[in-house]
Amino acid sequence: MKSFNYSIIFALALMIALVASCRKKETEETPEPLPEALTPYTLNCPPYFPQLIIPADNQLSVEGVELGRKLYYDTILSNNGRACANCHTQQYAFSNPVPNSMSHVNLAWNNKFLWNGLVEGKLEDIMAFEVNVFFNTDVTKLNNSSTYPTLFKKIFNSTSITTQQVAYALAQFIRTQSSTNSKFDKYLRYETTLSPNEMNGFILYNTEKGDCFHCHSLGLFNDNAYHNNGNDSVFVGVNRGHYEVTGNANDMGKFKTPTLRNVELTAPYMHDGRFATLEDVIEHYNSGVKQSPTLDPIFSKPNHLFGLQLTSQEKSDLVAFLKTLTDSTFINNPALSHP
Ligand code: HEC
Ligand code: HEC
Repeated sequence: MKSFNYSIIFALALMIALVASCRKKETEETPEPLPEALTPYTLNCPPYFPQLIIPADNQLSVEGVELGRKLYYDTILSNNGRACANCHTQQYAFSNPVPNSMSHVNLAWNNKFLWNGLVEGKLEDIMAFEVNVFFNTDVTKLNNSSTYPTLFKKIFNSTSITTQQVAYALAQFIRTQSSTNSKFDKYLRYETTLSPNEMNGFILYNTEKGDCFHCHSLGLFNDNAYHNNGNDSVFVGVNRGHYEVTGNANDMGKFKTPTLRNVELTAPYMHDGRFATLEDVIEHYNSGVKQSPTLDPIFSKPNHLFGLQLTSQEKSDLVAFLKTLTDSTFINNPALSHP
């Protein structure tokens, strides 16, 4: 009975708080018109997502998205036989356990990228980094290929392929990697109900008791910000996080809050993959948070002073709730698979 009441309160509060935040306002500037040969692509944006902004000079087209998809799966971009999809694999929500790569889930709504936030801005900016810096893509291979010049010309209307165009096409495809059909989404749309354990997990997650929602906020399940979530008390190497980018002592040990959508599929966890299971992660928040000067203030609240003190039932309920964020439509979507 108690959780039933909660469920109604939560669903209503959520809808009121979140409805209408995702306007279909595409850009601040006037979008550049698509060439007539191209078909406009409309991205679905749930009402409980933030506003979607698409740069004026990279409007989505069916053909542009398709080109980006082809590139994402093509080893031609790298100089060592790898494609983006080798490390960003659909069955793992476009992450991969071996290099512990980050998932590609709703990145269209993100403005901070990589664990330490090395790149901030638009998807076009992180794609330019991936192409120019990470892959050091050799565009002569693309220019000499039998298929790419025609495809690029149709979309970008220029005679030779540039790394900027590659980045733009990839950004178009990655914008379509949107996950909006998990069990939790269906619950928000009144299409299904949560089990008593999942509902209890949701309540823990979304109240001061578990306190997850402040950083992994409902909707995207991240907050486009950096936090120190108590993984370490001494910081060396990659564990320094955003400090590596800014050199500012206040950023020591802070990382981009990862989305928890499809988190069941994205093990191992944290920037260095230190936790193998979701149970390990919950135990970290329950009893393993380490003190340091930059530790997020949330963990200094009275309910955190001696750990969260969750019962084993509560811990497993939290995990059950996290698993409602798995979206099988997304990982089986043929439009996102190898072309
Ligand atoms: C060798 C494996 C590998 C390949 C190939 C690879 N990535 Fe990644 N990717 C990673 C890893 C690992 C991370 C996390 C790096 C970090 O922040 O420490 C990452 C992070 C990212 C992110 C940041 C996501 C976020 O939430 O901030 C994006 C975007 C991305 N990769 C796109 C691409 C694209 C596009 C390609 C192809 C051009 C590509 N990656 C190829 C391993 C790879
Ligand atoms: C103060 C902000 C904050 C709070 C509160 C918080 N998290 Fe996190 N969470 C983060 C950050 C930042 C990371 C990434 C840290 C890293 O990689 O070192 C993270 C990582 C995770 C991961 C790993 C995801 C992945 O892809 O590797 C999971 C799972 C997770 N948190 C779940 C939770 C749960 C469940 C709660 C509540 C019990 C919670 N978080 C509370 C900020 C927070």
